[in-house]
Amino acid sequence: MHLTRDEERLLESDNPTVAKCMEILVALGEIFGAERLIPIKSAHISGISYGNIGEEGLEWLKDLKAKVCVETTLNPAGMDLERWREMGLDEDFVKKQIEVIEALKNLGAKPVLTCTPYYIYRPSFGDHLAWAESSAVVYANSVIGARTNRESGISALASAIIGKTPYYGLHIKENRAPTILVKVKGEVDPSLLGCRVGNEIDGIPIFKFNRKLNDDELKQLGASLASTGNVAMFHVIDQTPEWKDFEIPDEKIEVDGLEVKFDCEPDLIALGCPHLSKNELLEIARFVEKFERAKKTIWLFTSRKVYNELRDVVEKLESKGIMVFRDTCMVVSPATERFECVMVNSGKALTYLPKLRKVKTIFGSTYECLRRAFNES
Ligand code: F3S
Repeated sequence: MHLTRDEERLLESDNPTVAKCMEILVALGEIFGAERLIPIKSAHISGISYGNIGEEGLEWLKDLKAKVCVETTLNPAGMDLERWREMGLDEDFVKKQIEVIEALKNLGAKPVLTCTPYYIYRPSFGDHLAWAESSAVVYANSVIGARTNRESGISALASAIIGKTPYYGLHIKENRAPTILVKVKGEVDPSLLGCRVGNEIDGIPIFKFNRKLNDDELKQLGASLASTGNVAMFHVIDQTPEWKDFEIPDEKIEVDGLEVKFDCEPDLIALGCPHLSKNELLEIARFVEKFERAKKTIWLFTSRKVYNELRDVVEKLESKGIMVFRDTCMVVSPATERFECVMVNSGKALTYLPKLRKVKTIFGSTYECLRRAFNES
């Protein structure tokens, strides 16, 4: 890979953190055949939960001595920074989690603690990014038309410190072409559809729906695709910003109704994977207006920004026994482990909760989940 003089100097820097970050980017670039590094507009770092990275990850972060040089945001942590007691977490975990966040803040990262950084600092079409968090990556590429590969937490951090990423994969326009046409017959939940297609294909799907999806549905579709497969981008005919730039591929599949099993009775209903948008939170509030008080534990997850902007809505929800948490989610927080069976409206949570939190997980639409929480059929 060609390096400029300045980049070579960074590779030989006296600062071991900077030298290490350059080594990581050069190694990545060489593996994937990148010709050069390109500047990025922002980085988004995953692997923030102490429950996931443990003591080793924390020590590694504390040893880093450098500053990020682009807008750098952080994924959810293991708990709500203020309401962790209500999540049932212990003080030792909380102390460690705060150390992780402090170590990243010392590097200059912004502790937004959300997997929807695009609601806070929205990139522009064509921007090059280095984002980890597969659901944010697929949204940035597909819905916004920004360009990022699926970075790991470490490579995103290295890019944040150097301000560059290797030029390969989805940074190059021709690699963003669709590889398979997916015709969707009938009404299918986008989140479940994403799971099914992610399991079946490898590459970049282009969907043909018989109606327009809203932004939240596109977010859910992408998150599911990315959690079950290696998908980092999709197109939707007549909808997403780059679909017209390419030929429709010859290879195609047709998808219709999807079967879902309900094999446990939920003791937790969890919504907000990816974090709830303002619209989703408002829609939930509207739907539950007619109900008295939740009969089951129900947790919602959103970003601190959305929470702060809709405080009155949050208060109304809480008056009905619904808990609204920020900074964390049902998958990265160990708080979910004490439940037997969790009901979710997210294909990504359906995929990861059994693996990471070892809980049985069932799926329902947002309204099915809410009805179940209030014991309404
Ligand atoms: Fe976000 Fe957690 Fe789901 S990080 S995408 S809410 S697994």
